[in-house]
Amino acid sequence: MGLELFDLAGKVAVFIGANGGLGSAMSLGLAEAGADVIPVSRNEEKNEELVRKIEMLGRRSMLVSVDATRRDQLEKLREQVVAEFGRVDILVNAAGTLVKKPFLEISEDEWDRVMDVNLKAMYLACQVLGPLMVEQRSGKIINISSMGAFLGITRSSAYCATKGGVNQLTKVLASEWGPYGVTVNAIAPGFFVTPLNEKVLTQPEVEAKLTGDTPLKRYGNPRDLVGTTIFLASAASDFVTGTVIPVDGGYLAYAF
Ligand SMILES: NC(=O)c1ccc[n+]([C@@H]2O[C@H](COP(=O)([O-])OP(=O)(O)OC[C@H]3O[C@@H](n4cnc5c(N)ncnc54)[C@H](OP(=O)(O)O)[C@@H]3O)[C@@H](O)[C@H]2O)c1
Repeated sequence: MGLELFDLAGKVAVFIGANGGLGSAMSLGLAEAGADVIPVSRNEEKNEELVRKIEMLGRRSMLVSVDATRRDQLEKLREQVVAEFGRVDILVNAAGTLVKKPFLEISEDEWDRVMDVNLKAMYLACQVLGPLMVEQRSGKIINISSMGAFLGITRSSAYCATKGGVNQLTKVLASEWGPYGVTVNAIAPGFFVTPLNEKVLTQPEVEAKLTGDTPLKRYGNPRDLVGTTIFLASAASDFVTGTVIPVDGGYLAYAF
């Protein structure tokens, strides 16, 4: 027993939001650990690039284009994955969007879009793909949360509301599906510069404040998420469920 606890050889991972700033590193990390990985999101060009990289690592993949806010598209995805791979062992829910506006300026459309991508897509993916795991009596679900699940980030009300929901959905699903051998956990990344937030995080005063309040004194690098992702996807975490693991350089722990 040792490193083999983290071995994902033969496992099939569906990764929603794989082509994003964080998802690219995390999904390739799963492939490096041995998993076959299907990158799921809308942009087919970006998905294709990732499929190529996964295959170059010697793993199987599949090119799809899916809007995860659409149940019909997720159901079609399930059919394709079952036909090609026969099972789903790992589901990562990392689709995300952010609207940066004061609360009073957020329109209903913007509120709904953030809810749909960050929370409803998670509900849909778990409802469409989760039953495969329940049926096979094993599975690992990893939901991507945020500092915004714990803290009030100004001009991010819809985003923070969805991430609080992500933490709670994670706990409820862990409670419902634990008896069937399915673990459900979340990762709460700290601050990482990606297309989601680069306009905000690259402002010098924001960077100085956030990295200054981070004990490790820097922003995260997407590779910083790989170890925790592999841990939660592998047998190493078989008795871990319903938890939210911050990968934040100590941001949540810091007072002054
Ligand atoms: N960056 C950070 O500092 C940070 C911190 C905490 C938490 N997070 C969370 O981490 C996750 C990934 O964020 P990121 O920073 O990597 O952002 P990103 O680079 O903007 O990536 C967002 C991902 O979501 C996908 N997506 C968006 N709408 C979708 C839809 N309707 N259907 C399917 N996929 C959709 C995008 O792909 P397509 O456009 O191709 O659909 C892309 O793969 C999000 O949940 C975010 O809230 C990020």
